[in-house]
Amino acid sequence: MTDIERVGVVGCGQMGAGIAEVCARSGLDVMVAETTGEALEIGRTRLTNSLGKAAERGKITEEQRDATLDRLSFTTDLGEFSDRDLVIEAVVENEQIKTEIFQVLDQVVTRPDAILASNTSSIPLVKLAVATSRPDQVIGIHFFNPAPVQALVELIPALTTGDETIKRSEALVGDILGKHAIRAQDRAGFVVNALLIPYLLSAIRMFESGIASREDIDNGMELGCAHPMGPLKLSDLIGLDTIVAIAESMYEEYKEPLYAAPPLLLRMVDAGRMGRKTGSGFYSY
Ligand SMILES: NC(=O)c1ccc[n+]([C@@H]2O[C@H](COP(=O)([O-])OP(=O)(O)OC[C@H]3O[C@@H](n4cnc5c(N)ncnc54)[C@H](O)[C@@H]3O)[C@@H](O)[C@H]2O)c1
Repeated sequence: MTDIERVGVVGCGQMGAGIAEVCARSGLDVMVAETTGEALEIGRTRLTNSLGKAAERGKITEEQRDATLDRLSFTTDLGEFSDRDLVIEAVVENEQIKTEIFQVLDQVVTRPDAILASNTSSIPLVKLAVATSRPDQVIGIHFFNPAPVQALVELIPALTTGDETIKRSEALVGDILGKHAIRAQDRAGFVVNALLIPYLLSAIRMFESGIASREDIDNGMELGCAHPMGPLKLSDLIGLDTIVAIAESMYEEYKEPLYAAPPLLLRMVDAGRMGRKTGSGFYSY
């Protein structure tokens, strides 16, 4: 069991809203912070709609939806996070912005045993840890998108993270949130992206060099390996800009050609073809 009851989530975008929903549905008191009132309203709507859909689909009852909403509060002032037992940061993937947030959290969160976690996909956790005066209480808790649906969470202790922080985070993820935790060292890509990204880049290189059509590459993996989605469709779903960002952080770390983004992928991002979210990528939407 865990002693974590009050959670703060910084950022209410795609991931922050999902993480806040998961925590509130699990019975935790959740406060969500955004930069501006406008961003907060967009985030609140995203979260409320997602809970509404979960109720419509019968995943939760209407009473559970209402009780979950009652456990959620919203703010634009991180100062209100002082009583939080755990804060999960899920703002844009920008090292400077995240570092500043960890410095602020270090000042405002008063509980001496509070855990400060990040949902970062590629920034070394140790850099965020040493920005605080409690590097033993900083850890990566990496959810998958959409957080309310995906069962996996990667736990990434930094070199400085203490055993107690790891144990309490593991108990929270498994016992309270009902997710499956796997542990990875603080290395670019952790487990899942370190395996997935080179595979997606290989598929893009295969398409770029004309070895097979996009449909044949996707059908190959869907019908030959029973993957629910081929690599080019999956790339469009993740977002090509996101793939470039993760590939670059892995290339930066290991200098392996395997992780270098192929020119076609870079040009598509330059052209604004990021995949589903912009209406075109390897396919049109
Ligand atoms: N999208 C994914 O599939 C995915 C999966 C796992 C992890 N992640 C990681 O999760 C994090 C968030 O990604 P996302 O896809 O939700 O991004 P997003 O752009 O949808 O949301 C980011 C949110 O952070 C807010 N924000 C920015 N600065 C802030 C600040 N100073 N204080 C409070 N809020 C602030 C923005 O207003 C925005 O709403 C990133 O670190 C990303 O690498 C993303």
